[in-house]
Order: sequence, then C-alpha cells, then structure tokens
Amino acid sequence: MEINESVLQRNERYVYALRELYFRYGFTPYRMSKFEEYDLYARNKDFLVSDNVITFTDTDGKLMALKPDVTLSIIKNSKDEPDVIRKVSYNENVYRVSKGSNSFREIMQAGVECFGAVDDAAVCEVVKLAAESLKTFSKDFVLAVSDLDILHTFITDLTPDKEKQEQLYKVVSEKNPGGIRAMGLDADKTNALIDLILLSGPVKQILPALTDFLKDKGCIFLTILQELCENELAENIVVDFSVTDDINYYNGIVFKGFIRDIPVAVLSGGQYDNLMKKMYRSSRAIGFAVYTDELDYLQEEASGAVEEEQAFLNVALPKGRLGEKVYETFAKAGYECPEILEENRKLIFENPEKKVRYFWVKPSDVAIYVERGAADVGVAGKDILMEYGPDVNELLDLKTGICRVAVAAQKGYQEDPERTLRVATKFTNIARDYYQSKGRDIDIIHLNGSIELAPILGLSDIIVDIVETGTTLRENNLEVVEEIAPISARLIANKASGKFKSAAIGQLVRNIADIIAE
Ligand code: PRP
Repeated sequence: MEINESVLQRNERYVYALRELYFRYGFTPYRMSKFEEYDLYARNKDFLVSDNVITFTDTDGKLMALKPDVTLSIIKNSKDEPDVIRKVSYNENVYRVSKGSNSFREIMQAGVECFGAVDDAAVCEVVKLAAESLKTFSKDFVLAVSDLDILHTFITDLTPDKEKQEQLYKVVSEKNPGGIRAMGLDADKTNALIDLILLSGPVKQILPALTDFLKDKGCIFLTILQELCENELAENIVVDFSVTDDINYYNGIVFKGFIRDIPVAVLSGGQYDNLMKKMYRSSRAIGFAVYTDELDYLQEEASGAVEEEQAFLNVALPKGRLGEKVYETFAKAGYECPEILEENRKLIFENPEKKVRYFWVKPSDVAIYVERGAADVGVAGKDILMEYGPDVNELLDLKTGICRVAVAAQKGYQEDPERTLRVATKFTNIARDYYQSKGRDIDIIHLNGSIELAPILGLSDIIVDIVETGTTLRENNLEVVEEIAPISARLIANKASGKFKSAAIGQLVRNIADIIAE
C-alpha cells in the first residue's frame, strides 16, 4: 500500500516521519491498549507529570485507568532480560491534566524505549536519535543534555538532608544561583554547584572546560559527550545541568529538546535504571518521548522578518510602581526605551536600536507570559513564583520590591488548636503548603484583595498576605504572627528562550547585576 502524504494531517505527518526514523534505527513498533490497571500508577505517582488519572471500573470490578504515561506500561509488560537489548518505538495518546488548566487533555506522544543490555553505545545512540527526531521538524533546535549522577554527587556533597536536596534540585532546575546561595550551605561546595550549572553551552565548546572541572567525577558522561562531539548534529547539542528529573526514577544522562519559537520542551527523556529497579527489573533502560501536539505552532523555516523578530529581547514588566523602578534599572543597564516614559495607555514599547521590547503586564500575570514564551524574560515577585510555581528560570534577585509573606491576625488573637483554622488569602498554594508542612488542618478562603478585612469581619481567623511597610496591618489593628518567606522582585526567563537567546539573556543578567551591585 502506498501512502499519499498529502492526505495526512500535520500531526500525522510528524508521527509518520518519526516512525520511519525509529524503524531505520532498528526500533520495532510497540502497540498497546489504551487502558492499564490503575494500581501501576498508584505505585509510581511521582513518575507521572500529574497525579490526576482518569479511572473507571472494568466489567470484573478492577479499577482501570486511561493511560497517563507509556513507559510504565512498556516496562511492566516486558520480560526482564538483562542480557539482550530491546528497542521499541511507539506513538500513543496519553491522558493528562495539563499544567495551568484543570481539565484532562489527550496528548499525542511518539518515542522510543531501549532496555535490557543498555551499554554506553546504546545510551549514545538514543541521545543522537533524540537530536535526529528534533531535526525532523526544524534545523533550529537545541538538545540540552545533563547528567543526574554528576549533579547528585554535587548535591549530596552539599547536604545529606533529603528535603534540602529536593529543594536544591528545584533551584538547580530554575538555573537559580541566588536560590542555591540562599540555602546557606557550605560556601565552597555551594560555589562548586553554581559553577557546574553555569558551565553550560554547546558541547564542543564546553567539553574541555567541563573535563577540567569534573576531573574524576564524570567519566562516563564525558566519554558520551566526546562521542556526541563527533556527531553531525553536535552544533545543536548543549550541556546544561539545569535539565533535571526525579532522581528516584532517573539517573545518568537526561535531556530535553527545544525548537525555536516553541515555548516549552517538545522532547524529554533519559536513563531510568532507578525506575527499572523499582519495578524489580535488573536491566538498564533509556528512552524519550516527543510531544507532537506542541508542534502545532511550529513556524515555517525562518524568513527574514522572522529572523529580525528573533533578534529582539521581549521583556514583561509588572505594571505599576515596581515596574517603573525596574525599568529604570534596565535603562541604566543599557536597555533604554524612552517611549515607555510617555504619558499614554500603550502596553507595548520597543527600541529597535537596542533590540528590546517591553510589555506592561498585570504583576500576577508576568510569570504566565514568560512561562508560555510571549516574553523571553520578565520581572515577577517571589510571592507570585512561589504561588504559581511556573516552569521558568529564575536568574537574578533584583533586590527591589522587598516585602514578606506573613501570617497576620487581630492584635491579641489566640489560636484554638482544636478548631480548623480559617485562613483568608490570595496565596492559596503558599498558605496550603505552609500549613501542610506544620500538619495543621485549615480551611482556605480565597479572596482577591483587601484581605485584612476578613478577620475583622469574622470571615477568617487569620490571613496570609504580603506585608511591606506594615501600615495596612497597623491601621486595621492587625499584627504579624509568623513570617512565611522574604520576598523581592526576580528576573525570570522562559526556558526555551534561555536556549535560543542565551547570549543576549546572559548579557542582560550580567549588565543588570552590575547595576544592582553599584
Ligand atoms: C498589598 C497587601 C497588603 C498591602 C501591604 O495590597 O495585600 O494589603 O499591600 O502593604 P503595607 O504593609 O505597606 O501596608 P495591595 O496594595 O496589592 O492591594 P490589595 O489589597 O488589592 O491586594
């Protein structure tokens, strides 16, 4: 049967091209059912992107699930044969709650799994295949690779405390040197971890410095990078230790793939020997998935106008006093745009000479604009980052907009530990996490503003809110009971922009840091 490609939808064409590629590399197609026993996901919840799974009861009373993931099923349904290598490819729909929405989506995934006698050559082949997969869609791609074993060595060296290690993984994934420093751990080891995450760049360029830096710590990774340097796609492969994954499941090499103009990773994968162990397998494994739905907004090959546009740095500033102050810092750092100071209601301003474009955005929306790539960088309060947990890089503490998130109550308030605590706040997640960590049962009342009214009118016992000068509390006869976190404005960046505009963003960070240090 001949296939006329013009009858295929765009997404089907992508999947078709990938299947052909994987077949050429000796991966055999793997078909599976849409359903799986729920128990498999209940036992491996942390492996999933989201805890939410669509379940139903089978005719024999068994609790089943619509697949949120493919890897777990492939491993579960395959024999443990550590002496042979199995190479399978798949394209399947999975059912997940996508981040930022509260509804399920059907998401098409195509990918490969390689398990059994996986040696360094097999690992290398899968990484190259990931790069080839991205090249199928665009020549403007970046495959960012990292090594969890190396990262784990640096992190465990810093602290044996599991909770702190988890926190460190989070700040590393945000490429957030300030966040690592703020943990107040050993200064030399802290600097070593920061140096590691800053040692990022094209593999060929970075390998000598990395080899020198790691000394005896990263032999296998360095060998694999050496081999990747020989590859024709080496220019598109970068080393970036901020690419992380759950250490309980993954180990060794992990990677993410980005395509210019698509704001999120379109490919994700890595070695998952730790998952194999959890599933009582003695063999090793590596695989990756391509999220073909994300390719819907792929632009055609870059034209002159698109290239011109790509040279601009798009900056989302928080509308209001903080934004105006932050703009002054940007202007002093060499990113001025005089038009922004004119009295008008415009929201977009650009300076073609400086290749910078500013947007005035509602402060609580800055993180969304940056996470979704409408802006390359932005300035958001740490409170917003803590509340929404956007998947962005946190590059710099701007040391302005300083305040704190605190618990406050009416003067003289005495907590009754026998009652559920009623908490009024606009920071629902911060309040929930804080009281969860203390094991306190609370009832959250979500409000959008004038939070201080709630305890006065008996709507709540306490509030969780921003305290800057303390005037609002004082004038309403309230006081701080506990401090949750210090807050300041942070410079954040979209993770994909960080890959394609790394030079411009790196320069911006250095220039702004110099101004702040003055
Ligand atoms: C914030 C916060 C407090 C106030 C604290 O409110 O929610 O109400 O500032 O500042 P202070 O300690 O200097 O008095 P915002 O002005 O954002 O208005 P809102 O009540 O609408 O949230």
